[in-house]
Amino acid sequence: MRDGPNARWLLLGASGLVGTHLQGALRERNVVMTSNRSQVPGAVTLDLTDGAATARLIGETRPDIVVVAAANAFVEECEREPEATRAINVDAVRRVAEAAPDALLVVFSTEYVFDGKAGPYVEDDAVGPINEYGRQKVALEAIARERAAHLVCRVSGVYGWSAARLSFVHQLVDRLRAGRRMRVPSDQVITPTPGPDLARTIVELVDRGARGTFHAAGPEILARPDFARRAAETFRLDASLLDMVPTAALGLVAPRPLGVGLRTEKLRDFLGHGLPASVEGLAAMRNAEPRP
Ligand SMILES: NC(=O)c1ccc[n+]([C@@H]2O[C@H](COP(=O)([O-])OP(=O)(O)OC[C@H]3O[C@@H](n4cnc5c(N)ncnc54)[C@H](OP(=O)(O)O)[C@@H]3O)[C@@H](O)[C@H]2O)c1
Repeated sequence: MRDGPNARWLLLGASGLVGTHLQGALRERNVVMTSNRSQVPGAVTLDLTDGAATARLIGETRPDIVVVAAANAFVEECEREPEATRAINVDAVRRVAEAAPDALLVVFSTEYVFDGKAGPYVEDDAVGPINEYGRQKVALEAIARERAAHLVCRVSGVYGWSAARLSFVHQLVDRLRAGRRMRVPSDQVITPTPGPDLARTIVELVDRGARGTFHAAGPEILARPDFARRAAETFRLDASLLDMVPTAALGLVAPRPLGVGLRTEKLRDFLGHGLPASVEGLAAMRNAEPRP
């Protein structure tokens, strides 16, 4: 396997929130990117549920590193449509793994692999998902771990700009700027993760030969209302438009693990640094806002 600057990367799902930031982090690298329904300049169109097309692309590109940022990451949709979402979140990734048996396989997972009863969690804590999205991610992690050369990156609350999918902070900014109210779960915690830094961290982990499971998340575990207020403050918006509502009152189909949160000591020990805290990450997002 070629590594370092010579390695050939295949980025599946370059159009998503995480994928958008990975595009930036891989700008100087030898990379083939794919999108599905969105248009991304320079990206190949690929529906990962098409096994033949997936195998063909992998055969043509012969990647050293395959990053699977493509997924159906909508927790409610996973609960409502378990088979259709499993087809992309699990089955398609299994085919990718089979088509690229010698590549380093990088996949993204979530704190929803845990039940939230005893968080925050370290990488080796026992999983116990309470919704379909979490169960699919447990299955995805198992596929990655079938090979030695894998990286499972558990992330949470990614924020940043992206055209295709609006992060929580992006939605908050749009709504509050328009003077609209926004409901925020009062009893959920997140580990806010700045997208650009997450992307650079993934590349750094690969470059430095990391293998296994990492909580690739920011350094703080915050109550969602605190993070939402901090975002409003950073963008100088009216936080009184935020309505803090218990999860049970939101009418969601998928149960949410409330006391989750990702501890990131392993990442910091490995890299010698962590990701920026939310005050810094949100300020960087504000400064990077695309001009209309
Ligand atoms: N964002 C978070 O806070 C968060 C938290 C925990 C875990 N994660 C995990 O991180 C990963 C990336 O999440 P994200 O937030 O970047 O998701 P996202 O913004 O919803 O992006 C999803 C990506 O998947 C692609 N995709 C969907 N269906 C596809 C298909 N059938 N074939 C090919 N590509 C397909 C989309 O392509 P098109 O748009 O072009 O159709 C898009 O590029 C996911 O595994 C997610 O579960 C994210």
